[in-house]
Amino acid sequence: MNLVLLGPPGAGKGTQASRLEESYELIHISTGDIFRKAIKEETPLGKEAKGYMDEGRLVPDEVTIGMVRERLAQEDCQNGFVLDGFPRTVKQADALMEILEDLDFKLDGVINIDVSDKELIERLSGRRICKSCGATFHVKFNASQEEGVCDECGGDLYQRDDDTPETIKERLSVYSKQTEPLIDYYKQRNLLKTIDGEQGLDEVFNEIKSALE
Ligand code: AP5
Ligand code: MG
Repeated sequence: MNLVLLGPPGAGKGTQASRLEESYELIHISTGDIFRKAIKEETPLGKEAKGYMDEGRLVPDEVTIGMVRERLAQEDCQNGFVLDGFPRTVKQADALMEILEDLDFKLDGVINIDVSDKELIERLSGRRICKSCGATFHVKFNASQEEGVCDECGGDLYQRDDDTPETIKERLSVYSKQTEPLIDYYKQRNLLKTIDGEQGLDEVFNEIKSALE
């Protein structure tokens, strides 16, 4: 099964993609995670992406598309994948269609996670991520047992650099201008399933599973 997870910043794409990865043995491809890893390792890709990410703007299409093309061509994607955070522009969506055609893959569905701005701001402001294993928590909605410590591996929890009030505002505005048009894009192609993302983590996952059946 090959899927796209669509939704604004903080909708729960990463959270739900991890569950899909586990339940359906899909490869989880998060463009944001790939960029963050590159920044940490100070690679040329990381140096290019950092300025855009810090400001909450999108990394240029050519860079992102090339990166996804390379990732999807890797052997492990043959058994199914879930794209989290890509595509984010119509240009990226068109490119994805081309890439999938070249690789002889079919897109089975696009899951759109719908959440209001007020809730998104609260989710992003309280998000905490494990430095070691990348597990995601929330100070209120999905708190770790011990404050600042990962339940999965005991690693330290941190707050993402772009989860500041100013950058969150910019990311939400970028989403509505550049990414939201993809809802119609995929509706027209009969691929879209919209999920009410304003429910508990388990309820959202159950709704996604039902939509996939
Ligand atoms: P990216 O990393 O993709 O960030 P994003 O889209 O802004 O989304 P987030 O990761 O912030 O949110 P999420 O939907 O994954 O939510 P999560 O599950 O963590 O991109 C970052 C940057 O990289 C971009 O700004 C851009 O610069 C660049 N970039 C990436 N892809 C690009 C592309 N294709 N083109 C160009 N540039 C690109 O959940 C959020 C919080 O809510 C967590 O604390 C979680 O525990 C909690 N939560 C989750 N679900 C629930 C629930 N149901 N109820 C209560 N709390 C919940
Ligand atoms: Mg994410």
